[in-house]
Amino acid sequence: MSRADLKNWPIFSLLEPDFITQISMVAVFGILGNEALIVTKNDMVYALGTNTSGCLGTGDSHSTLYPKKVDTLCEKRIKTFAYDSGPHVLALTHQGEVYSWGHNAYYEVGNGSSNQTHTPASICMNLSDKFVIDIACGSHHSLVLTDEGEVYAWGQNNCGQVGSGISSNQCAPRKVNSSLSTKKVISIACGQTSSIAVTDNGDVYAWGYNGVGQLGIGNYVNQLNPYKVATLVGVVIEKVVCGYAHTIALSDEGVLYVWGGNTYGQLGLGNKTNTCIPIRLDGVPEMGRVSDIAALHCNHISVAVGQGGRIFMWGQCRGQSVTRPTATPLATIHEALACYATPSVMHKPLILHAEEEIGILDCLKQAFDDPITSDLTIQVQGKPIHVHKSVLKIRCQYFRSMFQKHWVENDQNVLEHEQFSYDVYKSFLKYLYTDEVDLPPENALELLDLANAYFETQLKRRCVQMIKQGITVLNAAFLYSTAIENNAQELEEFCFKFALNHMTEIIQTPNFANLDEATLKTFIIKAAQAGAFKT
Ligand SMILES: *[C@@H]1O[C@H](CO)[C@@H](O)[C@H](O)[C@H]1NC(C)=O
Ligand SMILES: *[C@@H]1O[C@H](CO)[C@@H](O)[C@H](O)[C@H]1NC(C)=O
Ligand SMILES: *[C@@H]1O[C@H](CO)[C@@H](O)[C@H](O)[C@H]1NC(C)=O
Ligand SMILES: *[C@@H]1O[C@H](CO)[C@@H](O)[C@H](O)[C@H]1NC(C)=O
Ligand SMILES: *[C@@H]1O[C@H](CO)[C@@H](O)[C@H](O)[C@H]1NC(C)=O
Ligand SMILES: *[C@@H]1O[C@H](CO)[C@@H](O)[C@H](O)[C@H]1NC(C)=O
Repeated sequence: MSRADLKNWPIFSLLEPDFITQISMVAVFGILGNEALIVTKNDMVYALGTNTSGCLGTGDSHSTLYPKKVDTLCEKRIKTFAYDSGPHVLALTHQGEVYSWGHNAYYEVGNGSSNQTHTPASICMNLSDKFVIDIACGSHHSLVLTDEGEVYAWGQNNCGQVGSGISSNQCAPRKVNSSLSTKKVISIACGQTSSIAVTDNGDVYAWGYNGVGQLGIGNYVNQLNPYKVATLVGVVIEKVVCGYAHTIALSDEGVLYVWGGNTYGQLGLGNKTNTCIPIRLDGVPEMGRVSDIAALHCNHISVAVGQGGRIFMWGQCRGQSVTRPTATPLATIHEALACYATPSVMHKPLILHAEEEIGILDCLKQAFDDPITSDLTIQVQGKPIHVHKSVLKIRCQYFRSMFQKHWVENDQNVLEHEQFSYDVYKSFLKYLYTDEVDLPPENALELLDLANAYFETQLKRRCVQMIKQGITVLNAAFLYSTAIENNAQELEEFCFKFALNHMTEIIQTPNFANLDEATLKTFIIKAAQAGAFKT
């Protein structure tokens, strides 16, 4: 994952480039994807977004467009986050500790009280001597998995999702016992109001709400205690994920089994019929062996990584019901969810690696004016600019024809340039490497002249845009004549209209007095035609 992938998540649009380079992990959450948490390489934690239920953990419940520090989580070595729809948030540290904050009407915070919390606090009750290795949230309940394979649950329990044998809300973590008491659990997942555990021998246990068969136990009855998904005999399940009302299991042979709600085709079976028993998802040969799956308790989309790392998706994709796994050209599960899930939130935090991944565009940018790799020096006003013949040839018609004709014979590698100033010429060459125009607006006219001389239409358009933004009564006449000289009709028209609107003042400026006779004549005739001199 590279930092450029953050572009998929609009909430990060205002982050400064320098800040972005410091990021090591991000999580986008909330009922509309309007909240986010950020961990930086130096172990600081920030939050941004709306203040719903104090879910930013900043202590003050103010909304913020820009990242704000979450003091209590800084330097705590955060491993991952989980979040519910409240939103209520869990943070797991590498030391196995769990912090929680946010919405708490159903005791989601797990500290014994239902008072709202704006500040993360460590969950101690019944967990103080436990080392937690994974966390999961449903809409208002939470599960954690310890290194000993135990599951603890708390929060809303109207359907038995806490697995406590009763259906009253659970105010603090409580071990999920009964049929799991002697089992070692290796993976946990939450649907909206249901829970799943996978044991080390590949069995699946489910409890909580079962209205559309999401527990996969052959009936539609809610379960207050874990219940084994018995029909998966002879199949070793490694991982289970839950959508709002559906469940997907991945076997150690890369095969998918699906069950539960299917209103949007989220089971991928080609129809929209719910099922309360696991069905093997076959008939998608191009998907091949599956290596990873994702779904979220707050929506109805399913995502799988097929053979060759190809991303498939189905279910509710941007409002459409897709009933069969569909191959996409998207690069990652995160990208599929960013582009197609509603709400567009992350199934798990996005980890950005310490070493910046450098793409071809970055390399090109860095190559500009680099004396080490350069094979051509252009001297402008006595100052050298280091470039690469092939880049210039690829990017610019002017250089292409120049190097093709008489370059081979005298293979010189220094070129003197006199027509344009150093600043403008350098900015032009840099533009060829970066697509960016890095020049103050005052120089835009000279750059326009250059773009015109070198037949660079795109650059010409950029210059015209810069010039338009700088037009005033004082310079309008000058810009008008320059536009004519450079054959920039759009700019000419723009300046003319501006002049027409400020006729009296512009006629009295020195720049107007300096117009050559022909330009002046054309201008006056055009102005007359436009009705400027009506008596
Ligand atoms: C939190 O957000 C709500 C809605 O955006 C706003 O009405 C409220 O004033 C905010 N509260 C604080 C403390 O910023
Ligand atoms: C909840 O907060 C109120 C004050 O806001 C406090 O009086 C009460 O003791 C708190 N309840 C619990 C269970 O901590
Ligand atoms: C739980 O958190 C709430 C809100 O911060 C607080 O009022 C309460 O005292 C806490 N309870 C315990 C037992 O720490
Ligand atoms: C701690 O766990 C026990 C047994 O699992 C449970 O009965 C109790 O309610 C839990 N403590 C709290 C404060 O929830
Ligand atoms: C878990 O269940 C077993 C048997 O089902 C029982 O012996 C044990 O006391 C229970 N533990 C807790 C903490 O409830
Ligand atoms: C939906 O598809 C599944 C898998 O092919 C099949 O078992 C089931 O009978 C189908 N349901 C209906 C109503 O066609």
